Amino acid sequence: MLSRRAFAARIGLGAAAVRMLPEMAWAQRAAVKVGDLPKDMVWLNANESPAGPPAASLAAMREVLPTSGRYHYQEFGDIYAAVAKSEDLQPGQTIVGAGSSEVLHCAIDAFTWPTRPLITITPTFEGPLEVARALGRPMVLTGLLPDYSADVHKLVEVAGKAHGGLIYLCNPNNPTSAITTRQDLDWLVANLPANTILLVDEAYIHFGESPDLVSALPYVRQGKDVIVTRTFSKIYGMAGLRVGFGAAKPELIQRMTPLRMGVISIVSAHAVVAALADRENILRERHASLVETRRELCDWLRERKLSFIQPHANFIMIDVGRNAREFGDAMPRLGVAPGRPFPPLDNLLRVTIGTDAEMAKFRDVFWKVYKG
Ligand SMILES: Cc1ncc(COP(=O)(O)O)c(C=O)c1O
Repeated sequence: MLSRRAFAARIGLGAAAVRMLPEMAWAQRAAVKVGDLPKDMVWLNANESPAGPPAASLAAMREVLPTSGRYHYQEFGDIYAAVAKSEDLQPGQTIVGAGSSEVLHCAIDAFTWPTRPLITITPTFEGPLEVARALGRPMVLTGLLPDYSADVHKLVEVAGKAHGGLIYLCNPNNPTSAITTRQDLDWLVANLPANTILLVDEAYIHFGESPDLVSALPYVRQGKDVIVTRTFSKIYGMAGLRVGFGAAKPELIQRMTPLRMGVISIVSAHAVVAALADRENILRERHASLVETRRELCDWLRERKLSFIQPHANFIMIDVGRNAREFGDAMPRLGVAPGRPFPPLDNLLRVTIGTDAEMAKFRDVFWKVYKG
């Protein structure tokens, strides 16, 4: 298998990113320098799944690969229908893209303009902010509440003052792993000001355990001004295959669709269809395994009186009691790559939950750095 280091060396790292950057590209901006990294580096920097693609997806990809000389356009109707059906939606209520990044990009392009801002919390996933910035769209950022949740009242107030906007809410939020509760989400949807669309990014929703964490998809089914994005990059373990989708009422989907780059690769499409055929088992098994490993890490942190934000996703923010960038910089040479810094949360280090073996190594390296 080609290591990240070998691949980076082959293509020349730093190749310009086109359109929205997925988490991996953001992760590359972190302190980890390519060159003198340990071969057995544990990558806990991009919130990927250590399980990788499901076996059924690997088999489906092997089968379709020799036929990839063709576009396969005639198959996409069925592929999109399978994605829509997996969430009890009609094909006209979904848009499939190269990762949820592409769908987020389309939403920002379609629903913000010079007098219609992107409104969100900070810190949150940087991708949408970067798109708005690149397109020259205005942005309003609101701070988090003391429990690290979004201030939904503030988001509504800002949208009202702006006479409308696109509210981007990542739930659970990246990087905090905190959630917007069912009650707050209900309130937000019920109080959306005129000309306002709510864009809920559910990249990490499958990792939740709390009954307070719910999907916003029911609002889409009710025809509200809500767009939900999902990805196959996280719990499905297919980040490199680049597939995600958006769900919204047909009027909103129709405004986003022309802004797509094209169709996804047929190889990725077959991987997704195969995964969806075994969706319940895949989600159940991966969720159970993540929850156990995450709980073990939380127990370990509690035993050492280290504080952290209660995690609801496959990553956790740990208070390292000093500048997290410097702390994080000291880890890669010991074989573990944690997440990038997320100002203004300067003492918090974001760490992806890997396999049990990876987390054992993480604990070892973390403790060495912590103890100095
Ligand atoms: C919150 C969030 N949304 C969207 C994405 C984009 O992921 P992808 O384009 O791989 O679906 C990421 C990537 O990590 C993310 O963290």
